[in-house]
Amino acid sequence: MKVKILDKAYILHNDEIIKGHVVIKDNTIDEVKEGSFDPRTCLLNTDYDYFDLTKKLILPGFANTHTHSPMILLRGLVDDKPLKEWLGEVLERENRMTKKAIYWATILAQMEMVSKGVTVFGDMYFHADEMAKAVDDFGMRALITRGLVDIDGDLKSRLDENLKIFNEYIDHPRIKIGLGPHAPYTCSKECLKKIVEISKELGIKIMIHLLETSWEKQQYSLRDLLETGIFSENTLAVHVVHADEEDIQIIADTNTHVVSCPVSNLKLYDGIAPIGKMLDKDIKISLGTDGASSNNSLDVWRELTFFDLVHRDEITLETIDLIKIASKNGYMAMGFEDIGEIKKGFKADLTIIDLFKPHYFPNVSNRILSHVIYSGNSGDVFATMVDGNWLYFDGEFKTVDFDRVIREFEKAFLEVEKN
Ligand code: NI
Repeated sequence: MKVKILDKAYILHNDEIIKGHVVIKDNTIDEVKEGSFDPRTCLLNTDYDYFDLTKKLILPGFANTHTHSPMILLRGLVDDKPLKEWLGEVLERENRMTKKAIYWATILAQMEMVSKGVTVFGDMYFHADEMAKAVDDFGMRALITRGLVDIDGDLKSRLDENLKIFNEYIDHPRIKIGLGPHAPYTCSKECLKKIVEISKELGIKIMIHLLETSWEKQQYSLRDLLETGIFSENTLAVHVVHADEEDIQIIADTNTHVVSCPVSNLKLYDGIAPIGKMLDKDIKISLGTDGASSNNSLDVWRELTFFDLVHRDEITLETIDLIKIASKNGYMAMGFEDIGEIKKGFKADLTIIDLFKPHYFPNVSNRILSHVIYSGNSGDVFATMVDGNWLYFDGEFKTVDFDRVIREFEKAFLEVEKN
């Protein structure tokens, strides 16, 4: 058994900030207690690794509930066009992305995420087998879905690929495979029905883009889609910006989960989602950055600050609820139980924030979460742990060679850019 002691830290525990220590056994939080760790009273019959986290804060890791990791290859390509024009530029390059490019981009995307305190992500892209392999190798937790469309008539081979990966990772401790119908305007009703049937049979998650743009709202309403069965507690509906009262009611009645991506929505001129109305109906919401080609970061912390500020005319949320939206809600939406809190019995997915910076003063416990949301930023992340393992610690990536990743990524980038 591997034991880690995280001592002398501020800890978000049971919705409050305490000062104390955390004991982690293998991949699980075994104890969270006020006061410093005392080896004389702690009955450990084994060696342990000790970490002095004075002036640091332990939070549950952030959840990036919707992204397209390999799209970091396209970061900065188009910064000033709405979705439809932006897609044109993107698709041309996606056709040149090889399996190898997808693998190395997914590694680098995970490096970016853990350095910003993200511990889990939900993804939708092609070559999903390479994404899953990159997650297995790097060490994050993820829900991987293979992007599915039938607009060109080829659903079968994509579904077969999706199911093959599902079977390969069926018992993986950190990776779940779901189904990723791209959107109602690229998937027919028959396609959605088939996907729902498989999701029910296998008990797996569906991730779909929904009502992202005003153009989309002209194409379909959620009532039109009811017959497909796509709405359920197993579905993650991403964006849901242009939802009217009836659409929101359908989402609420079916317990469909909403993933909000405010930065991408603002940057692609999509608008602002009716989050206040959704929360009034107890719809569960988590955050996603969407791909780095439209955000352009994979920074959930920044997403959280935007999320709170842009919806203030509708709703003002408590800091603790904002942290849950950025963390536990994402885990739950993706089907990861007992993760997203610093609590005995929960999996050790957490991020450590360095509070010894000018913008964290005055340093009083009851203002720490306020500082995190309104004056801190992801550059304050000191370390990130997933499933009991440090993936990032004091500026170092523990599971990959930084230089090699950059070399491979740059090769992939040149391939994607050539024409
Ligand atoms: Ni997306």
